Amino acid sequence: MNDHARFTCDFTRREFLTTTALAGAGMLIGASAIGQPSSATLRKRYALVGVGGRSSMYREAILKTYAQHHEMVGFCDVNLGRLKLAQAKARAMAGVEVPIYEAKDFDRMVRETKPNVVIVTTKDATHSQYIIRAMELGCDVMTEKPMTTDEKKCRAILETQRKTGRHCRVTFNYRYSPPRTQVKDLLMSGVIGDILSVDFHWLLDTQHGADYFRRWHSNKVNSGGLMVHKATHHFDLVNWWLSAVPVSVMAIGKREFYTPQMAKRLGLQSHHERCRTCPEKGACTFCLDLAANKDYKELYLDQEHYDGYFRDRCVFRPDIDIEDTMNVQVRYNTGVTMAYSLNAFNAWEGYIICFNGTKGRLEHKEEETVYVNRDGSVPGALKKEGTYIRIYPLRAPAYEVPVWSGEGDHGGGDDVMLDDLFLPEKKPDKYLRAADQRGGAYSILTGIAANHSFVSGKAVQVADLVSGIPLPDYPAMPPHTLPVPMPPRG
Ligand SMILES: NC(=O)c1ccc[n+]([C@@H]2O[C@H](COP(=O)([O-])OP(=O)(O)OC[C@H]3O[C@@H](n4cnc5c(N)ncnc54)[C@H](O)[C@@H]3O)[C@@H](O)[C@H]2O)c1
Repeated sequence: MNDHARFTCDFTRREFLTTTALAGAGMLIGASAIGQPSSATLRKRYALVGVGGRSSMYREAILKTYAQHHEMVGFCDVNLGRLKLAQAKARAMAGVEVPIYEAKDFDRMVRETKPNVVIVTTKDATHSQYIIRAMELGCDVMTEKPMTTDEKKCRAILETQRKTGRHCRVTFNYRYSPPRTQVKDLLMSGVIGDILSVDFHWLLDTQHGADYFRRWHSNKVNSGGLMVHKATHHFDLVNWWLSAVPVSVMAIGKREFYTPQMAKRLGLQSHHERCRTCPEKGACTFCLDLAANKDYKELYLDQEHYDGYFRDRCVFRPDIDIEDTMNVQVRYNTGVTMAYSLNAFNAWEGYIICFNGTKGRLEHKEEETVYVNRDGSVPGALKKEGTYIRIYPLRAPAYEVPVWSGEGDHGGGDDVMLDDLFLPEKKPDKYLRAADQRGGAYSILTGIAANHSFVSGKAVQVADLVSGIPLPDYPAMPPHTLPVPMPPRG
């Protein structure tokens, strides 16, 4: 059964009709629909918590692209200004008045709006509280990555899911990017035999990479650092590409670029609190002008008086405690080993991954466009000329494979994933790209283990952090036991 089909309704059809009847009569505060389609058809009900940048993708999907099958019944956030903005956007987009609730009223929102599914798009370290509470209140969950940020919260989510039996979908959009799906297809085909090791290097440039150091992500307590916040994508891809889970992790990490010392080496007098009030903004090319970008202005600058959150903090502040340079060695349950690196101050953005197999090597490079898009370019879109997949058979000429194309955000993955999330009829997916809490857990545990290894200098066993996680549903891969053809003489 696929993920979508597993989402179930925890309240009865009778309750639903009562609710919509009350709404129709104007008796349910804020739940009325202006010009909304008749509620005679049973549409799936969603409440969304965390109405920041990422939430707009889900808002548009539910209120516009897939509105025939779904409805948005509530928004929740700690920031009242962003809540009102989300409500106004929904009104402008679909003519509906989505009720808004402050975070302290999350339970009340669920009781009053009766969602089938709660979508979690808050900052990372707060995901677990909503995932857990939503499941306890009888809802299924759709959560953004990372599922959570440390092993304790991970254990609590897994325990609640087991007790409640609710479904927890982790939305790994990267798996759906056509070139990454193609890599999975090639590895499954056995073109390079069975895989023995992986070399994987992810580069963030000084636009996108720097952006993590000015936002809430810059403190581990919020994000788990880039090892969790960002690398959850990468480690999930590797788990899924290999159909394997991590067993042990050894890592070193440091911060050497986004530091007060580097500000001085770049010719600045000092670091400052934020770009908006910075006396050196004319000299600093890392400066972000929130007022110059309409989306940033309305989403963050205009709302900062509600919670004091500055989206443009100095990337050279001393209180940053995440790494910008990380090297990780991982061993998987299938015996595969990986060398991985993540650097956040590079000259280009993207990655190179090489799979070393018994019949040859697959090399894949993706170069992405600049992320922070003051020029209107799509964040995370692929640069066609910088993206390739090459096969190097053992002792035979290498060849390039035409790359499956993807348009739009996050390497073309977002739109493909949205169809999978929100179209009611699903096509069978031989790549098994839909992930639940098991894939969510294994994707964060490599990074969480790396965070521990940064401190101890020792290898960390994943099972010592969280034990007994069932294996995720991954496609079968070429096994390590089949005969391998003798390569031709070189
Ligand atoms: N899959 C992807 O490619 C992708 C891309 C961007 C973001 N994300 C994820 O989406 C999530 C949101 O990121 P974003 O870029 O929208 O950040 P953001 O800062 O724009 O938005 C976060 C929102 O959460 C709210 N919030 C913070 N603490 C809260 C709490 N305790 N209770 C309720 N609301 C709270 C904030 O007020 C804000 O509105 C993150 O987990 C991030 O990792 C995923």
